[in-house]
Amino acid sequence: MRLGLDGRVAIVTGAGSGIGASVARALALEGSAIVAADLHEDGIEPPADCAGRWLAVPGDVATPSGAERVVDIAVETFGRVDVLVACAGVYETGTLEDVDEKVWDRVHDVNLRGSYLCARAAIAEMAKRGYGRVILFSSIAAQTGGGVAAGPAYVAAKAGIIGLTRSLAQKAGPLGITVNCVAPGVIDTPMTEVMGPEVKQDVVSKVPMRRTGSPDDVAFVVAMLASEPAGYLSGTHLDVNGGLHMT
Ligand SMILES: NC(=O)c1ccc[n+]([C@@H]2O[C@H](COP(=O)([O-])OP(=O)(O)OC[C@H]3O[C@@H](n4cnc5c(N)ncnc54)[C@H](O)[C@@H]3O)[C@@H](O)[C@H]2O)c1
Repeated sequence: MRLGLDGRVAIVTGAGSGIGASVARALALEGSAIVAADLHEDGIEPPADCAGRWLAVPGDVATPSGAERVVDIAVETFGRVDVLVACAGVYETGTLEDVDEKVWDRVHDVNLRGSYLCARAAIAEMAKRGYGRVILFSSIAAQTGGGVAAGPAYVAAKAGIIGLTRSLAQKAGPLGITVNCVAPGVIDTPMTEVMGPEVKQDVVSKVPMRRTGSPDDVAFVVAMLASEPAGYLSGTHLDVNGGLHMT
């Protein structure tokens, strides 16, 4: 089956690192034009042969102007927006004592509010053509409470993404737009380096697939959700955790 991503226009936020970088590459290799957004331009490199349909956009996507700017640039450069992958995120491992309001607000601003702002701007554009695929990022932490690693601000923000996904799916469905989220388990990226090798080894011993995930494991699922044939899959969250937690 063809994914139907050839010639599509996709915005990927958080494309400068980890899962977002892998998603941007995967969609580019399927033939999509990519607007790769991150705080800094460093590290947002297109795969070979994709340079003509790849634009790196530095900026903060957690502000209304930053989110709208990325969508405006996509339309100015490539004419429209078909796919949004809102992957930008920040992690937090705090205890009750050290998660103050400043940490809480930043974690929620980037993970939850930023996802909403990007989705709102992208959906307004997608609605003009009656077609769109929106993929947000939750986490296994939203389902498990965070375990030994993730703190309360991160867990709450990622749980909020599941509710946001369902709400947006109901509102955007009649416009021809699907909205889903993925809930990765422990994936080897700079974000999980704070866990340290012993914690990761303990996780691996509990994962039925007996390994941590790679960014490409998640990118594959995102590409499926972003694909044209996935038009009847909406409002759901897909676990990508090697069987560690089953919902
Ligand atoms: N790695 C994991 O195990 C894991 C598990 C569950 C969920 N996730 C989620 O997957 C997504 C990607 O995580 P990752 O592991 O690739 O992390 P990462 O730290 O490697 O990459 C995150 C990227 O987001 C960018 N970013 C942060 N704030 C931004 C902002 N305001 N504007 C623009 N860009 C911003 C960062 O600069 C960075 O490049 C995140 O939403 C994360 O919460 C990751």
